[in-house]
Amino acid sequence: MTRVAVFPGSFDPMTNAHLDVARRASGLFDRLVIGVLNNTKKEPLFSIEQRVALIRECVADLGGHVSVEAFDGLTVDFARTHGAGFIVRGLRAVSDFEAELQMALTNRKLAPEVDTTFLMTALEYGYVSSSLAKEVARFGGDVTPMLPAPVAAALAERLGTRPRV
Ligand code: PNS
Repeated sequence: MTRVAVFPGSFDPMTNAHLDVARRASGLFDRLVIGVLNNTKKEPLFSIEQRVALIRECVADLGGHVSVEAFDGLTVDFARTHGAGFIVRGLRAVSDFEAELQMALTNRKLAPEVDTTFLMTALEYGYVSSSLAKEVARFGGDVTPMLPAPVAAALAERLGTRPRV
């Protein structure tokens, strides 16, 4: 049996916490499709093309069974399109749990055949989020512990700041 999972998110931009979850999931599933939400409610800093390209660069070493795609609409439809039986989400702290539970139960209602699996991020990335990284970078702080190198460089370029180490 081939185990296929999707890992959906806004990824604006991908953080080390996301990458850590992608790495863990890549070892658990036969195929992992990272889905980058296009029609996000939030106004993204990076275009959908930039987000996809950056993630592709970051996950290049995870193997050919990991792919990255943009998607619109419902995550469960994206999962069904790929024949995925699993949605992967990362949990950093208890504060993530409530929203994730609500999403997981909504998705189960919509698609009972698709299960959500949660992976705990590594302890050192428990505080990392895309929005915090953007804020820190905007004011010239060091984001290198939070972001993969290509993302930190792209963020500095996008914000017109110099990457600080
Ligand atoms: O990275 P994020 O912003 O926490 O990801 C949230 C995401 C993209 C997984 C969620 O908003 C989502 O699944 N959006 C697609 C629309 C959808 O399926 N909504 C119903 C389930 S909550």
